Amino acid sequence: MSSIKVAILGFGTVGEGVYKTINTHKAKLEAVLGRKVEVAAILIKNKYKNRGIDKETLVTDDFNEILKLKKIDVVVEAIVGQEPAFTYIQRAIQKGCHIITANKEMYAIHGRFLQKLAAENNVSIGFEATVAGGVPIIQTLQQLLNINHIVKIEGILNGTSNYILSEMRARNLSFNEALKSAQEKGYAEANPTNDIEGYDAFYKLMILSEIAFGGKPKWENVPREGITAITAEQIQEVEKIGLRFKLIASIQLVEGEIIGSVRPTLVSEQHPLYNIEGVENSVSIEGDIVGRITLQGPGAGMLPTASAMVEDLIHVLVGGKKTNDLYQKSFVGTEEDKKIKQC
Ligand code: NDP
Ligand code: HSE
Repeated sequence: MSSIKVAILGFGTVGEGVYKTINTHKAKLEAVLGRKVEVAAILIKNKYKNRGIDKETLVTDDFNEILKLKKIDVVVEAIVGQEPAFTYIQRAIQKGCHIITANKEMYAIHGRFLQKLAAENNVSIGFEATVAGGVPIIQTLQQLLNINHIVKIEGILNGTSNYILSEMRARNLSFNEALKSAQEKGYAEANPTNDIEGYDAFYKLMILSEIAFGGKPKWENVPREGITAITAEQIQEVEKIGLRFKLIASIQLVEGEIIGSVRPTLVSEQHPLYNIEGVENSVSIEGDIVGRITLQGPGAGMLPTASAMVEDLIHVLVGGKKTNDLYQKSFVGTEEDKKIKQC
């Protein structure tokens, strides 16, 4: 049986994480999907960089070369910004490829259009990694929508700014030192303005709004402020009186109108976000039936994001089929998995 062919666009923190995860979890993927998964091609900008990619994999800086390959089943998009990602994804959809994307800036703007195009071409788009890194917030939200009416979504949606604020407070780092550390760890965007000025959290909020409320507020009506005006002195001063700064993104329905904001907020020890530190994200969803659900976990970074994308890869390929059933039928897991199964 032929293998499932994947093309990865981008080989930075996220693309490399997906490549590694597919390779380290080959047996598990084959067990779940019933076919091998092969990374057939990788798109990068600088083709002279040495990256330790398998010799059989096409590494190219020309997207046309990838589309010329005989068959690509899934395109995993992990490049930066709206273009050329939006154009590449449209072309891949028209060629019949499923799409997995982590690119929240592109998806917040073009997500609705792309979903329509995908439906017309009988393919799916997985976008779990666009919001909150490894935290399965999108799946959770979608799971609630059949019966619940979503009232409000609120939380910390940007790992980099939370990491910076935490490092400035706990380790007395300067803003620039903390930002540099976030960049070294692969949390920050290529252009960190998006993280520190609140744009990244804003795009994520708009993606959640579209799912929860079926639309977005007018962007110019959403107040957006980042963390750049917060000084180290302020952080230490408020710490003395039991307060911390958190960049909180919030969206809710008020009398039929979608109202959102992204802004730094002082929270006390009693606030649920007070102890969310480092790269962690925490998001609460309030539904009229379920009440309040909170998810917390790594909001950025190589493997958490790869986790979201490779889970999406399985979902787009098996569609409505229950992955657990498929997994049980053809179990070929790791030694550790086998021990668990035997218990
Ligand atoms: P990086 O900057 O680490 O990597 C970007 C990659 O894309 C590089 O390999 C780069 O090539 C390639 N690339 C950039 N522009 C082009 C282009 N025009 N054509 C071909 N290749 C290009 O970014 P990340 O991996 O951190 O992020 C990727 C995407 O994932 C972004 O949209 C980001 O918002 C999103 N994301 C990031 C997370 C994180 O934790 N970092 C978490 C969740 C989402 P080259 O290597 O040659 O420079
Ligand atoms: N730069 C983003 C963050 C990556 O720090 O949250 C995850 O979307």
